[in-house]
Amino acid sequence: MSAADTGGIAAEDLTEAQAARELERLAAVLNAANRAYHTDDAPEISDAEYDALKIRNAAIEARFPHLKRADSPSDQVGAAPDDGFAKVRHAVRMLSLSNAFEAEEVRDFDARIRRYLNLDGGAPLAFTAEPKIDGLSLSLRYEDGVLVQAATRGDGETGENVTANARTISDIPARLDGAPQVLEVRGEVYMSHADFAALNERQAASGGKTFANPRNAAAGSLRQLDSAITAARPLRFFAYAWGEVSEALAETQMGAIDRLAALGFQTNPLTALCDGPEEMLAHYAAIEAQRATLGYDIDGVVYKVDDLALQQRLGFRATTPRWAMAHKFPAELAWTWLEAIDIQVGRTGALSPVARLTPVTVGGVVVSNATLHNEDYIAGRDSKGGEIRGGKDIRVGDWVQVYRAGDVIPKVADVDLSKRPEGAEAYRFPTVCPECGSDAIREEGDAVRRCTGGLICPAQAVEKLKHFVSRAAFDIEGLGAKQVEQFYRDDWIREPADIFRLEERYGTGLQQLKNREGWGEKSAQNLFDAIRERRRIALRRVIFALGIRHVGEVVAADLAKHYRTWPAFEAAVTAAAPAAARHVAADEAEARERAAAAEEDRRPRIAPARQAAWEAEPVAEGAKAAWDELVGIDGIGAIVAVSLVSTFAQPAERASIDALAALLEVEEEDLPDTAGSPVAGKTVVFTGTLEKMTRAEAKARAEALGAKVAGSVSAKTDLLVAGPGAGSKAKKAADLGIETIDEDGWLALIGEG
Ligand code: IVH
Repeated sequence: MSAADTGGIAAEDLTEAQAARELERLAAVLNAANRAYHTDDAPEISDAEYDALKIRNAAIEARFPHLKRADSPSDQVGAAPDDGFAKVRHAVRMLSLSNAFEAEEVRDFDARIRRYLNLDGGAPLAFTAEPKIDGLSLSLRYEDGVLVQAATRGDGETGENVTANARTISDIPARLDGAPQVLEVRGEVYMSHADFAALNERQAASGGKTFANPRNAAAGSLRQLDSAITAARPLRFFAYAWGEVSEALAETQMGAIDRLAALGFQTNPLTALCDGPEEMLAHYAAIEAQRATLGYDIDGVVYKVDDLALQQRLGFRATTPRWAMAHKFPAELAWTWLEAIDIQVGRTGALSPVARLTPVTVGGVVVSNATLHNEDYIAGRDSKGGEIRGGKDIRVGDWVQVYRAGDVIPKVADVDLSKRPEGAEAYRFPTVCPECGSDAIREEGDAVRRCTGGLICPAQAVEKLKHFVSRAAFDIEGLGAKQVEQFYRDDWIREPADIFRLEERYGTGLQQLKNREGWGEKSAQNLFDAIRERRRIALRRVIFALGIRHVGEVVAADLAKHYRTWPAFEAAVTAAAPAAARHVAADEAEARERAAAAEEDRRPRIAPARQAAWEAEPVAEGAKAAWDELVGIDGIGAIVAVSLVSTFAQPAERASIDALAALLEVEEEDLPDTAGSPVAGKTVVFTGTLEKMTRAEAKARAEALGAKVAGSVSAKTDLLVAGPGAGSKAKKAADLGIETIDEDGWLALIGEG
């Protein structure tokens, strides 16, 4: 054993010198893991490993209290110590990219864009294709040609101000000649393989921490509080995009990249212009072939629509542009033993089987857990009863193939039956919740078995809380998954409202909190500050944070845009309850009618069956109207609406939601800046065939102008835009006396005719 290798010695056997070295090693590993988990959102070691290392650290500190380090992991809660960097709000959000792995998905990408833009297959549509650099993105703001600010991506809306550090990177010019007055250049900070190896050697020689891979090294180096350290680290930068610009850089993506190169930025030499999916795939293959010899890490190829006017028309989904996509390199594979199958219970009660594996390195990362998806997957069936893996099931003791693709959770792909141990039994999926003992049932058509325990199930409650504090939800700094678990275990936080009562209850609790393991005076104060800061919060975040099944970020945003305030949203969802119940009854009646009709070999009479169910318990006009309005919101279907309304109708859930709402100041949803828009605040419905734009594009334009787009006509509709072939909606609009115009009329109205 080398002198530095103290990791293998039991805590109680370490000499004092070894203990000091081991505490140093643990501080490096755990602090890096904290950062990976909290700041980079990319955990690198399992929760179990993390916990084990933390316990080991505490045990050694208990034996040698005088060796406890100033940066001891026992005193760290969340991310970077003392949150040293100032926050920067990005003028234009920094987005991520949607991912694809297969050639077919690249062809779909082209087809999807053509559909959106209403281009036929023969029309030219060019894309750029360039390497996807595996580093971290940075936004550089130049005003009058002078670098005034550099910011990391952060959550896309707010990043960290790392200007002093960015100035030390030689690929980043301090001044530009002939640039637009305002220019935000975006690109990737990375470290070359050679520089990474040399850095790790220097670090090891000086007893500093070494990095797992070039990406971590680049991230760790850029996020140094002392920019002298960053200056000593060999970071590089490729420019590939831009944020705010006071005048356009060019008319095409390629032109803009050339312009950035002319201004003095490094741009990637493998950026190519492609005529369509087949050329993109050929360039992908060419880049992949050079991957090993590039000298820096790339993890795929990025495609972007070349014409910037088309990029503009295509716009964005919640967090990704429609005009770009990442085509990742194939997943990495390895074989290992499946030691056990555990069941985890998620926030909506889903029982998820997790494979516990003999640790194995897959693409540079040690994997000891992998998802097994659901009970059908283990049994070798797909959701429709067809075979997967040739029908081979997965059993404890099996030799299994594990793969990782990008940052996603490792998966078990295959099993080698020739190595199956004798006597291995088929896995029996539990029918009761392993956490609370409630029945776990599987509804028809659902691939997933769910615990019926609701809030009484501790696993569901904890997962709901973790979701509540997650990035896209309340995003409370210093209150991550680990802290939530700790607080839940100790009964300090049982439901979301408790988070906002923490200071009041335990505020002397600062006293109490800082006495707890892992909390110091400063971290406790920071936590209370961070929580207080989140009392004022956007409506869409609150709706998303509730963790209601089927209500993801996009649905939450749609609901927020429609109802705009918490009271309006809450009143609508409450009012719709009786009608939602009838809708469910009507679904059941329909299912019964279909079964009966099949039995009697006749055509099902669906409409009368549904109507009878609605009439069995007539609902008040207001309830029906609230329900119709809810399911009339574009993007909100009956499944989402039932899930939402029934959650609010459940007394325990409702009490928890009300308690939370009473402690918050929910901001009114901003309307887009629509000064002068002729359709701001109007409810618009599109129907029939649109010829100059697609439905999706029309919707996005209308919303950008402050209109609400609904899927069906009701008394609340202000305007119907009807193309050729408009049917019942046009008739209904006529009956209700709603203004109806055609596509040209619409374009004229919004000033684009
Ligand atoms: S374009 C709006 N181009 O990948 C699109 N991103 O997975 C902006 N990345 O956050 C991104 N190489 O950090 C683009 N050639 C490239 C890239 C690239 C690496 C990173 C970037 C982004 C992430 C999304």
